[in-house]
Amino acid sequence: MDLIDECKNIAKKLTKKENCMFLSSADDCFKQLFENLNDNIKTIYIPNEGGWLFYLKAKKFGYEVVKYDTLNGIVDIDNLNIENNTLIIVNSSPGYLINQNLKKIHEITKKKNCILINDACGSIGSPYAKIGDVIIFSCGKHKIINNFYGGFICYNNKLKNIIETQSNENKINKVKIINLKEFMSNIKKRIEFLLNKKKELFEKIQNDNILNKYNIIFSDNVDFKKYGVNLFLQLDDNCFMEKEIIIKNKKIKKLELCDKIKNHINEKYSEFEYTLCPRYIRLNKLGISFEIKRLKN
Ligand SMILES: Cc1ncc(COP(=O)(O)O)c(C=O)c1O
Repeated sequence: MDLIDECKNIAKKLTKKENCMFLSSADDCFKQLFENLNDNIKTIYIPNEGGWLFYLKAKKFGYEVVKYDTLNGIVDIDNLNIENNTLIIVNSSPGYLINQNLKKIHEITKKKNCILINDACGSIGSPYAKIGDVIIFSCGKHKIINNFYGGFICYNNKLKNIIETQSNENKINKVKIINLKEFMSNIKKRIEFLLNKKKELFEKIQNDNILNKYNIIFSDNVDFKKYGVNLFLQLDDNCFMEKEIIIKNKKIKKLELCDKIKNHINEKYSEFEYTLCPRYIRLNKLGISFEIKRLKN
């Protein structure tokens, strides 16, 4: 068996699916999906936050794209309103902050003859990466499977013919997968490492006189210690300042952390990279997402 087949077997186990393709990135997996489903699907539902930029590109492939409501990226199931014969993308670890259970959503989508796509970039290695009709996850830079290249799209026989209509699988770069099997086999250790770092950061913030008055999103969730490899610290207006920058001769207003908070974080938390929010791919809230997943073990 060649290396890629061995990796595919691991991917099938991690997602409990019968088939999979390995492509150059998770975005390529979404492309593979969008290109081949146009005849069957007209509408794609995506989350209003905690999503991924490529979801929005579905428009370019001719789909109508509709956003559904979430609470911090967690699907608001009671108010989920989707038409029959459509497709819904759910990020099973929105913002990489916590994992969400897609079982109920899957029951709804089955009844409505819809296809449930689980973006499992942040939940791979957990039971939540096994629910859905199609599971997509990345093996790219700063991911749980930190191979800096590649993505898997996994599905059962029912969708095999449609998803595999046209394939880009022959275009993958074999040099970049030499270490992939090792990364995939060590996924449990990697998650353990990241969760320990999250615990360290959480405790440090709780003992921090400046930061401990701010809310850590999902910290009261029973699964907070077990799932989600980033940490979101919700801040307020006082922590930010507006700066004017010029892009292509246009003045644009940009939010920046105020000096006091910025210096404090840079000094005390230099081990952790962070990204400023609101951001669709994290949360639409003022705060910072500590990108623990970027750490190497
Ligand atoms: C949630 C999520 N989905 C999809 C992707 C796309 O992955 P790739 O970089 O392999 O295209 C990313 C990348 O950061 C992501 O965070």
